[in-house]
Amino acid sequence: MQTLRVELGERAYPIHIGEHLLSDAGLVTPHLNLPKVAIVTNTTVAPLYLQKLTLGLRALGVEAIGIVLEDGERYKDWATLNRIYDTLLERRCERKTTLIALGGGVIGDLAGFAAATYMRGIPFIQVPTSLLAQVDSSIGGKTGINHPLGKNMIGAFYQPRLVLADTAVLATLPPRELSAGLAEVIKHGLIRDDEFVSWLEHNLEQLLACDPQALAYAVRRCCEIKAAVVAEDERETGVRALLNFGHTFGHAIESGLGYGNWLHGEAVAAGMAMAADLSRRMGYIEQADVERILALLKRAGLPVAQPGLAPARMLELMALDKKTEGGQLRFVLLDRIGSASVRAKVPAALLQETMAAPGVN
Ligand code: NAD
Ligand code: GLY
Repeated sequence: MQTLRVELGERAYPIHIGEHLLSDAGLVTPHLNLPKVAIVTNTTVAPLYLQKLTLGLRALGVEAIGIVLEDGERYKDWATLNRIYDTLLERRCERKTTLIALGGGVIGDLAGFAAATYMRGIPFIQVPTSLLAQVDSSIGGKTGINHPLGKNMIGAFYQPRLVLADTAVLATLPPRELSAGLAEVIKHGLIRDDEFVSWLEHNLEQLLACDPQALAYAVRRCCEIKAAVVAEDERETGVRALLNFGHTFGHAIESGLGYGNWLHGEAVAAGMAMAADLSRRMGYIEQADVERILALLKRAGLPVAQPGLAPARMLELMALDKKTEGGQLRFVLLDRIGSASVRAKVPAALLQETMAAPGVN
């Protein structure tokens, strides 16, 4: 097992990464205030892993309540959030009861927001089970739900006390979900670490084949990058915005198509292809860099073209982007492979060209 820390002063917490951590309840119990937890999961993950987690906890004298939600991005909404509050109240969960998220990013975001708001905040632990959640969404404390008009529009910053990433559970992840997780893996390299991009180019087949060593390295490297960025800028007043590379276009694709039609990672992949294209049009990177990025995304089984949304519709959806300031869109663009910046003054004509470019549109 490897342990990293997200250094946030009194809210600092460990990230444990390793195989078969799920049944090691001794990793969880030191972080509980009371021997009572509510585990939020979904109908896909529960039959695979809920018992493993609860048996270990119960063996150590912890009362464990399961809350099993419907599976899917379309359930990241108010009605599903209310189901969590209902059970917490019905089962007399108190301020010191810990909420545990067992699942992918949808469960982590929903459960985290429930933990942030139930009784004005109860302890929270992330047990991410998808690649995307292990490399990205379980770390950093962004929690929330979608609004019909915009992705992740309602939420709170609320840090977990512990992230427990059991890489053995990735063996049951469907290939399409593994690819979606690879989008965020590639993102971490593109914005912060060119050597990691080269490593990914050399090790992509091993990752796609779920090679445990390759997965463990990729998860650890992404967690290191994300933990460092979050420690520097928890509330996204600066550098944290770089983690949204590809997301301005990506969120518009997700909400424009209807939540769940494209996976989050797929929309981010197409969004990164568009952001790379825009970076090239702005003169920051070369066409060869764009081709290198597209090749890596394609090898990972990811889309590099948006699904045919009209540019005017994309613009309308992007106007709600959380990076927008004074009505002006801001984009995370590449300076080179391994480094990115937030750019405000993107000429409308170049943006139009990106949205209409062959191979991108
Ligand atoms: P997801 O939560 O829908 O999980 C993907 C699918 O895999 C689901 O069907 C899930 O049930 C299933 N699954 C999960 N673990 C499994 C396992 N071990 N074996 C078999 N099936 C498994 O999607 P995701 O890609 O994990 O997360 C996407 C969500 O995360 C989006 O809502 C996105 O907005 C959010 N997100 C949040 C942050 C953040 O910082 N909070 C960052 C990135 C993404
Ligand atoms: N996924 C973007 C962030 O955590 O800031």
